[in-house]
Amino acid sequence: MIQKYSFGTPFETEAVVAPIPVSSGLPALGQIDTDHGFSFRLALSPQDIVYGLGEANRGIDKRGHLYISCCADDPIHTEDKHSLYGAHNFLLIDSGPDAEAVGLFFDYPGEMTFDIGYSHREQLCVCCKTADLYLYLITGKSASDIVHQFRQIIGPSYIPPKFAFGYGQSRWGYAAPEDFRTVAQQHRENHIPLDMIYMDIDYMEDFKDFTVNTKRFPDFASFVEEMKQQNIRLIPIVDAGVKIEPGYAVYEEGLAKGYFCKKEDGSEFEACVWPGMTHFPDFLRPEVREWFGNQYKCLLDAGIEGFWNDMNEPAIFFSAEGEADLRQWMADILAGKTSFHSFALSDRSKSLPNSPEDYQRFYHVVDSKRIRHDRVHNLYGCCMTRAASEAFARLCPDKRILMFSRASYIGMHRYGGIWMGDNMSWWSHLLLNLKMLPSLNMCGFLYIGADLGGFGCDTTEDLLLRWLALGVFTPLMRNHSAAGTREQEFYQFDHAEDFRHIISVRYRLIPYLYSEYLKAAKNDAMMFRPLAFAYPQDRIARKIEDQLLLGDEVMIAPVYTQNADGRPVYLPEEMLLVKFLPDGTLLQTPVPAGYLFIDVALNEVAFFIRRGRKIPVVDAAECVEALDMRTLCYIGDPKATYELIDE
Ligand code: GLC
Repeated sequence: MIQKYSFGTPFETEAVVAPIPVSSGLPALGQIDTDHGFSFRLALSPQDIVYGLGEANRGIDKRGHLYISCCADDPIHTEDKHSLYGAHNFLLIDSGPDAEAVGLFFDYPGEMTFDIGYSHREQLCVCCKTADLYLYLITGKSASDIVHQFRQIIGPSYIPPKFAFGYGQSRWGYAAPEDFRTVAQQHRENHIPLDMIYMDIDYMEDFKDFTVNTKRFPDFASFVEEMKQQNIRLIPIVDAGVKIEPGYAVYEEGLAKGYFCKKEDGSEFEACVWPGMTHFPDFLRPEVREWFGNQYKCLLDAGIEGFWNDMNEPAIFFSAEGEADLRQWMADILAGKTSFHSFALSDRSKSLPNSPEDYQRFYHVVDSKRIRHDRVHNLYGCCMTRAASEAFARLCPDKRILMFSRASYIGMHRYGGIWMGDNMSWWSHLLLNLKMLPSLNMCGFLYIGADLGGFGCDTTEDLLLRWLALGVFTPLMRNHSAAGTREQEFYQFDHAEDFRHIISVRYRLIPYLYSEYLKAAKNDAMMFRPLAFAYPQDRIARKIEDQLLLGDEVMIAPVYTQNADGRPVYLPEEMLLVKFLPDGTLLQTPVPAGYLFIDVALNEVAFFIRRGRKIPVVDAAECVEALDMRTLCYIGDPKATYELIDE
């Protein structure tokens, strides 16, 4: 059952698409205070597990930390951080197999705090500055039931083209055709499967959206075609900020039409991002979305079939106002007007990018009314991606276009996927990647994945191989890294054969992964579930945070520690251990319920098939298109049935 409560004057985010009448009175659950902003308090019992929050830090069970929904461009995802790139205000409280489960969705596009047993171990407190929001209270018989009900009201998940289930190589720094040709050639010559090469900002002319550097790419369409002849799609990045440059068509047109966000005095807000000073399109306006969406046409016309939308929190390096404030603050120190202690200077200078003050300096126009950006901050990236998705539906209605975004809000799952932003080459981020998968699925995001190998700092060969072995299962499987870090294409390391094997396993599993993806999308279900969802009576399974169920058939348990030659695994029931060995053979070993240590070498992919289930596999191929469905066979219980769907 779903009840919708309205407080104050909520902003219509369009996160929920199902018409739900507003209930009168207050929800029967929790304590609500609207006298000082908004707060919702609920006592938590020791056995309650609190799931949710989509793209967020820490565990699958969110208890014990403070989370702030505020789409943030912060690349240092240490344990103490409260915000990542997405804002997904959905919680699911699972009080055990015999109790009703509860879902809560706080539809509020400004900053919102989730204190989940942080201030008081046994209390949940959700609060925000103004009491203008919708609260959806969902009750149901199980955790899966709550997710299903929630997903039904927020609409169907985005489905990418099938090639997007292949492997993608990316690096910030590929700039010239030769860079892309090298990647393509190395993969093809070494028979490492590859379907996509990503184009980071250097393909553009001076980082201007919807331009291509014509000195480097005099005939971009032919280059796109050259890659396509090798079954490789080029996937360019598009950033939110539009460079301020007289003569640049997107800037000139956006300015003439008044499509950029303005300051209180009516002039356009300016901020520095990759291209230098930029304006931000007001994606909250339908006509601006239509205009910006139409800009993708020039790249679609050149043969491009996929994009990634970036810097759309929006990321701000600094504004002129922010810089002036900082200078003034420093001048005051020099003049002896302000005292400071040593940390203050470094904290103050670090506060220049993505500052709350900047987010208060510009406005959107919604239904002819101005609204300050910070009040709707979390919708910005979502609306940018919506602009793209709506344009694809207009411009190429018969084709699926690959689209994923960095920032997001609930509802954006209808328009594209997400990647988990600028992670680091840290083992802890491999585990964080795993933990975010079910949380994101709860919120409808199915096309998801992290920068495999880690984006920031230097990776190691073993970290990359282990991370790829998790990436084998994530719909988005992309190796991406930052300029200036150790290069991490497979050919930078000694053992090409290990990479070939791990990535080939992905291709062997594509029929299964694609089928499970489509089922999750069509049935408003999760592709990745915590063990507790399937084994609610099993107290050990309820607490497992480093193993997941994939579909109804598979349990994954990736290795996420360095120098380990395997890992302990908990099996809630007897299962079949499956190992794809580097010599191309398969090891299948029935293992009993309970604890087990599994050996997993760096060049192996291991997982489990549940009792009475089977999964399809095919022979590996070097691209999705070359997969030969005539080689399809099943592994697992031969008596089991499996519904394979392909579209
Ligand atoms: C941002 C993106 C990253 C990209 C970089 C340069 O940091 O998150 O993926 O490589 O910008 O465009």
